[in-house]
Amino acid sequence: MELFDAITQRRTHRGEFRADTISQEHLDRLIEAAQWAPSPFNTQPWEFLIIREPAGKNALAELTAECVVGQFKDSTFLDDNSRWMRLTEAEWEERGDGVLLTDHVDLPPMFRKDPTKLKPLLKHAKHLSILGHLGAGKLPAKEISELVRTSPLLILILMDNTRRPPGDGGERWMWLGMGAAIQNLLLTATGLGIGTQFVSAPLERQDDRDRIQDGFNIPDSHEIITLLRLGYLDASHGKSVRLPSTTVIRRESY
Ligand SMILES: Cc1cc2nc3c(=O)[nH]c(=O)nc-3n(C[C@H](O)[C@H](O)[C@H](O)COP(=O)(O)O)c2cc1C
Repeated sequence: MELFDAITQRRTHRGEFRADTISQEHLDRLIEAAQWAPSPFNTQPWEFLIIREPAGKNALAELTAECVVGQFKDSTFLDDNSRWMRLTEAEWEERGDGVLLTDHVDLPPMFRKDPTKLKPLLKHAKHLSILGHLGAGKLPAKEISELVRTSPLLILILMDNTRRPPGDGGERWMWLGMGAAIQNLLLTATGLGIGTQFVSAPLERQDDRDRIQDGFNIPDSHEIITLLRLGYLDASHGKSVRLPSTTVIRRESY
């Protein structure tokens, strides 16, 4: 696959993957691609915790479910979320940013036909936390947790803080290097027909990150940067949107 095609065809995959395991050859390729990313002073602060066995997957799936249930009860989270939720494909395309609500949750039948009916509710999304307290988060939590549990491969991406470059900006530059490594991995996956999804819910809060740190024996010197789920795809890439480039380019001076 051409590099530019991989860049523009990479998508976040929020559905099921094929059940077959990722081959060792392909996994090696993903990690090698990540390792060739630039990093400050060539510090290469990344490590990759590969999870293929049910025990690790189950633990992360359970924690994800718990965290999603918590997010549905959290009025601030819901309010912040609503800013980026698009109710219809038309709105999503017109705005050119955010995520499609129906890609994230299965809507109740009354809203399925016309999701715009949700508009007034989203405007006051923080009040939806009442529904969260009544258990509204349980269904989406179960769905995402099931996706985590059944993914052929999970990767916890770690940053080794002992490999910090010099200077006040050290941590900042390390994070940039981590981003470059992750993108190399995602693009290589796209070229190999492997779908990927960031799973941020179990990593939002320090307490939850600590639980993962303990559960997977990750030393204190290492920071969990993200969790990815991966698997082969049957269908080709789905839809995404971007802002027009004219809105992100400034010339000569802001
Ligand atoms: C740091 C980071 C965290 C993300 N967390 C999630 C997540 O928890 N769940 C999810 O479905 N997508 C997550 N995404 C994917 C974005 O929602 C996605 O990249 C964006 O909507 C654009 O869609 P695309 O990747 O298909 O082009 C994350 C992306 C990044 C870079």
